[in-house]
Amino acid sequence: MKGLTSKFKAVGALMILALILSGCGEEFLSALRPQGQGASDILSLMILSIAVMMFVFVVVMVIYVFVILKFRKKKGQEDFIPEQVEGSHTLETLWTVVPIILILILAVPTVQYTFSLVDTSPQVNAEGEEEDQIWVNVTGKQYWWHFEYEGMDVTTSQEIYIPTDRRVYLSLHSEDVIHSFWVPTLQGKIDVNPTGNRNEIWIDADKEGVYWGKCAEFCGPSHSLMDFKVVAVSPGEFEQWVKDMRNIDPEETPESEVATAGQEVFANNCMSCHANGTSPNKIGPNVSNFGDRERIAGVLEYNKENLMEWIETKGEEMKPGNMMTTAAYDLSDEELDQVAEYLMSLSPSEITPENAEDNEYIESDLSDLFIDQEENEDEGSEGESEGDSEGESEEDSDSNQ
Ligand code: CUA
Repeated sequence: MKGLTSKFKAVGALMILALILSGCGEEFLSALRPQGQGASDILSLMILSIAVMMFVFVVVMVIYVFVILKFRKKKGQEDFIPEQVEGSHTLETLWTVVPIILILILAVPTVQYTFSLVDTSPQVNAEGEEEDQIWVNVTGKQYWWHFEYEGMDVTTSQEIYIPTDRRVYLSLHSEDVIHSFWVPTLQGKIDVNPTGNRNEIWIDADKEGVYWGKCAEFCGPSHSLMDFKVVAVSPGEFEQWVKDMRNIDPEETPESEVATAGQEVFANNCMSCHANGTSPNKIGPNVSNFGDRERIAGVLEYNKENLMEWIETKGEEMKPGNMMTTAAYDLSDEELDQVAEYLMSLSPSEITPENAEDNEYIESDLSDLFIDQEENEDEGSEGESEGDSEGESEEDSDSNQ
């Protein structure tokens, strides 16, 4: 009896824990609270498979309890041998056919979604025309992410901006080890491989917001700190952001004197790895809109103190094993303050993560962005096949290296 009581206690504790943990699902991080088509599809698969499993569990349990009760040994039956049954055509057919049906119920949508979730061919709009595609080349590096908007002359790191209500297509590769790109609220995971192949996936967000991304493949001591953000703003705001980002003048003098001094320190000590603006340099993260970042190094609270400590210690303890620890610079306290001030002044656009949270919706069909893109590339992107865009993104990233 005592054992039974402790079992009940354990089950009770588990139920309470499940109730508490179910409150952990945040809409910026939880796969159980999808904010985009991809994550919704995946959640519906999870619900379907849980429903099928529950069905099997309930049926087995009902039969189990029924058999235990009905066929248990009764008083006066000590020597009773029940009728021996061998083989039952009906039963065997039943327990072969039912699982096959259940597996088909699971397999058909699973296979369907496995393909549709990474189908990067253009979407067709209501008029039956193929939509222009926003392609972003994503590079994973220990322990940060780099984003290049194809044909848009926009480069950024750590925080990727996307318009709501539209798919953004990603072409991903790694420059060191295998990483995995995962925004739980928006889509499934996709491997980011260092070997020549680029994996492709799309993401979309139903509403504005800042969604947290994680690296989902163990990649070294700071794997758990390899965070990034997806900033989803309304289409009109996204268009504005792209225009602002492509007009960055890295030489522009900051407003404050301290930041201006920091600009020079940065140019002398940091520019061999980091870039500001559309420069292809991506040894270290691009700092174009560092002033608008939500986090420092993807994980630390955004403030000057943390930034100065990061620069001084090269993130040695804040993000162990990061590549900056090998940088040769040595800055005085004054210079640290100046560089931090400069980096925090880099805010080329009015569109920042705050716009993603203010729920102000500005309409745009984004066609302006594609006109520029077509002029830049001097080739139309309409009717482009999947193979074409793959080749193109490879070419583009090669020329950028
Ligand atoms: Cu990159 Cu884990």
